[in-house]
Amino acid sequence: MSQSSAGSIESVLQEGRKFAPRAEFTARANISSEAEYEKMWNRAKDDPAGFWGELAENLTWFKKYDSVLSGNMPDTKWFNGGKINASVQCLDRHLTSWRKNKAAIIWEGEPGDTRVLRYQDLYREVCQFANVLKSLGVKTGDRVTLYMPMIPELAIAMLACARIGATHSIIFGGFSADAIADRNNDAKAKVVVTADGGWRRGKVVSLKAAVDESMERSPSVEKVVVVRRTGSDVTMTPDRDFWWHDLMQDADTDCDPVELDSEHPLFILYTSGSTGKPKGVLHTTAGYMLGTMMTSKWVFDLKDDDTYWCTADIGWVTGHSYIVYGPLANGATTMMYEGAPNWPDEGRFWNLVEKYKVNIFYTAPTAIRAFIKWGDQWPGKYDLSSLRLLGSVGEPINPEAWMWYHRVIGQERCPIVDTWWQTETGAIMISPLPGITAAKPGSCTKPLPGVVPDIVRKDGTSVGANEGGLLVMKQPWPSMLRTLYGDHERFVSTYFGDIEGCYFAGDGARKDSDGYYWVMGRVDDVLNVAGHRLSTMEIESALVSHPNVAEAAVVGFPHDLKGEGICCFVSLKSGDGNDELIKELTAHVRKQIGAVATPDVIRFATALPKTRSGKIMRRLLRDVAAGRVSTQDTTTLEDLTVLEKLRQDED
Ligand code: WTA
Repeated sequence: MSQSSAGSIESVLQEGRKFAPRAEFTARANISSEAEYEKMWNRAKDDPAGFWGELAENLTWFKKYDSVLSGNMPDTKWFNGGKINASVQCLDRHLTSWRKNKAAIIWEGEPGDTRVLRYQDLYREVCQFANVLKSLGVKTGDRVTLYMPMIPELAIAMLACARIGATHSIIFGGFSADAIADRNNDAKAKVVVTADGGWRRGKVVSLKAAVDESMERSPSVEKVVVVRRTGSDVTMTPDRDFWWHDLMQDADTDCDPVELDSEHPLFILYTSGSTGKPKGVLHTTAGYMLGTMMTSKWVFDLKDDDTYWCTADIGWVTGHSYIVYGPLANGATTMMYEGAPNWPDEGRFWNLVEKYKVNIFYTAPTAIRAFIKWGDQWPGKYDLSSLRLLGSVGEPINPEAWMWYHRVIGQERCPIVDTWWQTETGAIMISPLPGITAAKPGSCTKPLPGVVPDIVRKDGTSVGANEGGLLVMKQPWPSMLRTLYGDHERFVSTYFGDIEGCYFAGDGARKDSDGYYWVMGRVDDVLNVAGHRLSTMEIESALVSHPNVAEAAVVGFPHDLKGEGICCFVSLKSGDGNDELIKELTAHVRKQIGAVATPDVIRFATALPKTRSGKIMRRLLRDVAAGRVSTQDTTTLEDLTVLEKLRQDED
């Protein structure tokens, strides 16, 4: 993608294929006619308060709100004056119906051990852990860090926090001790919940050791709770560290949910932005619950007899919204798998689909590309006939991967929902509705009811059909982030500072003549590596903190599996780079940020290409990283020989 100075973006992808849902699917779909969608969409646009107010009756309230929507972006409030609790939406209200004995979570560990928690079981364990948190001194409004493997205790801990109004901050297990400490400090977390480890490709990921290291720099944390998962040796610090099972043993199995304001902070989730410091995206209770509940129902067409599986890790927003809160609010059966897709072999996911008769399967393009590489024989070994709907999220899905997903996994029978959304949006924003939208491979199609997007130039004017530009939202929606934790100013300037009156979080897109949206990727300095957002700045500051490094520039380059790979250009204070130093710098980045940010390529340069005002010309570096001949304007380049030098180094 190239961006012109006016901010419109040249779009190159042309895709003409179109796949309409089959009549059998449409007949049973939660939204089953185009007219119904149009009516909902127009109503939501013209009368958001009326539209969302009616839907909010599907939530269970302690006290009804005074107003549905108040204020304008950036500072909107939803359901002000209402009293609510997220755990009640996910648990209590299902216990008074037949769903009491329905499977809420079907879990399988990587070694093959399994657990099924019925709604009643989940309720009991959530209440117990809520009481545990209280006994550790956690109060309504406190923050709790969860650094855990994909085990049921993670969902239990989330809902327990929600029950007592503690705000959870989940940190993905691929982040390092330093990253945990940074997040603990930013959130001033009081308690950390972790495990002795988790299973990944037959090995133990030692989470507790990382937490121990982070504790040296986490003064706010008073207690650590440790789930015994792998049985591996861990050090328990007296009076600070406690075993989950010990604490649970004595905990009462009832815990009244706290009646919280609609806008009470439900969770913080740190995500990368275009500056170094991670952003603590804050979501609140009522609007987030409504958004995730309704979108789960509309987009995944959830039915009571479905087994629904989202393969994401709960450490990312997809797991928050579409493993835990959205499905459970609907009383659905949600599956959780702990480990890697290629353990013990490349057929594991398909084995799980067959074993549990999964009906709805939601994964990421990076995973799909890996499946393609591993070969059709793996899905071919298993019975995938239970599948009725497939989903994709995390990055634009390339049309060939879409076609493979459709043909090999969906067996040309299942609609595919390509869902565009972000940590910040809380819930799916642009996506096909599986019963009605004719899909075009690579397009996330049309906005859901309540979502009013546009594609604009830098000056805010709308672009024409098939003209690329910046993807913005013109109206607020209930599940949008409310602030960046502890930095409201940064929230306002990051998301509302670019385009007057609109929300903008960094994606370029175009709309075709049928009104379908095609997201073209990020326009800021954020990489999308295997569906995970990473800031180039953050990786650069990690590199520069190494004593030998003078300067670093990090750019993405096209990567077959990961979508984008991480390429680092490094100039040293003295001496030449060598393989040894590459290893050292790689380890250094992993220590600072975590395995998730492991560089794919590190290249040494005597100097980096800069403008006369000293700004690194990343676009040139992107071309170099991708091995392209640059067509970029180099007239502002301070020293033209630098670029030549970089290209020669490649040979
Ligand atoms: C990208 C993940 C195209 C996009 C839910 C967005 C997508 C970023 C899609 C958010 C999609 C996500 N098509 N691009 N279907 N889904 N993206 O915050 O660049 O981890 O801004 O949220 O992923 O990533 P995040």
